[in-house]
Amino acid sequence: MSSSSSTAAGSPSPSVVALTSSSLVNQQQQLQSPLHVNTPLIESLALNKILSTEGNNGVRVWAKLDALQPSGSFKIRGVGLHCSRVVKEKGVKHLICSSGGNAGKSVAYAGRRLGVKTTIVLPSTIPLETREKIQAEGANVLVNGTIWDEADILAREIAEREGADGYIHPFDHPNLWEGHSTIIDEIYAEYTAGMVPKPDAILCSVGGGGLMIGIIQGLRRVGWDDVTIIAVETHGARSLAACFDAQKHVRLDASQVTSICKTLATRAVCKEAWECAKSHPVIPAQVSDLEAVEACLKFVDDERVLVEPACGASLAVIYQKHEELVKLNAKNIIAIVCGGNTTSIKSLMDNQRALSALTPTLPAALTTTTTTTTTTTTPFAVDIISTTSSIPSTTTNNNTPDDISSLTSTPLTIQTSA
Ligand SMILES: Cc1ncc(COP(=O)(O)O)c(C=O)c1O
Repeated sequence: MSSSSSTAAGSPSPSVVALTSSSLVNQQQQLQSPLHVNTPLIESLALNKILSTEGNNGVRVWAKLDALQPSGSFKIRGVGLHCSRVVKEKGVKHLICSSGGNAGKSVAYAGRRLGVKTTIVLPSTIPLETREKIQAEGANVLVNGTIWDEADILAREIAEREGADGYIHPFDHPNLWEGHSTIIDEIYAEYTAGMVPKPDAILCSVGGGGLMIGIIQGLRRVGWDDVTIIAVETHGARSLAACFDAQKHVRLDASQVTSICKTLATRAVCKEAWECAKSHPVIPAQVSDLEAVEACLKFVDDERVLVEPACGASLAVIYQKHEELVKLNAKNIIAIVCGGNTTSIKSLMDNQRALSALTPTLPAALTTTTTTTTTTTTPFAVDIISTTSSIPSTTTNNNTPDDISSLTSTPLTIQTSA
């Protein structure tokens, strides 16, 4: 394990940030009420237009805007519930999480709201802006190693000393799934109020699979077992698709995990994700990194909401009229706009430029979307992306984190269609 852990300079003391007098007064209330907010479900005329064709008019798309959560992503739904429970039921006073961005931000936010200390361990490759956003929540940010696994080792060591119940896994825990399932409760409430029709399909991005599990659990609870989920990954982060290929729970080689969508870049979905995917109508779909990045840029113009490429992957299925979506012939579609903190307009544009520069040198088939992939390693050094952007270009996770990537300066590996 790398031993380069260090406390980030200038980090505000968690106790100062977390325990203002009003938060002390309200602490009991905070423990009772959820830490996430109900998010808007808006119909996107721009997305409707993309999918409505001459022979198939009247396709409607709603965007469930979880990018508007206070922590910047859907993660707070599950993380908030989990943190509230361990604080309330187990008396945890210190929450510890290893993360590459969104889970860490959500744990830090939850800790501030609950008035407890938080420690977030990041690999050194996580951009300064992300660290600063987490510190701004009052978290103690530590840096250890260059990949999530190394950060996670330190997080678990700290949790052993400080209390194991304070360790928060980014996606593999029933509390997280239960929290994420509230997305469906909100959609169902709008349905029963006559605001939206029952969806035929829901688009969601898959990393470790926690979000998808929550959505499936929510659908079952409201009796919508027949609603299809399009489970979206990038070609370089196809851990769920690999399970479908093998028809069993499998783990990718580290060399196969190459996507710049670092919050999707997991070697394996958690076992429960595969169990859920087998027993519900789930269609795996993959897009390229470039398609995910470009979807973010289009969406910010279309709906004024900035998301990171992990979320853009789901939107790309619509922008690209992905064959799996077209085949489904769905009329009413909900896209989970799961959000993400680890991006900016500049980094999206930098990535778009870098990925576009690579694309023309590869076969045209690269930009098409199929479920079969082979790997082409380009001679380009990844620094072209990683120095100009907060998003790493190569990921080689050795584990199954939420929003983690190991960032190396090896050549950029791009997944191409076969
Ligand atoms: C923005 C965003 N989208 C999607 C995902 C994938 O979620 P899960 O790991 O629960 O599948 C993550 C995970 O961190 C994320 O941060």
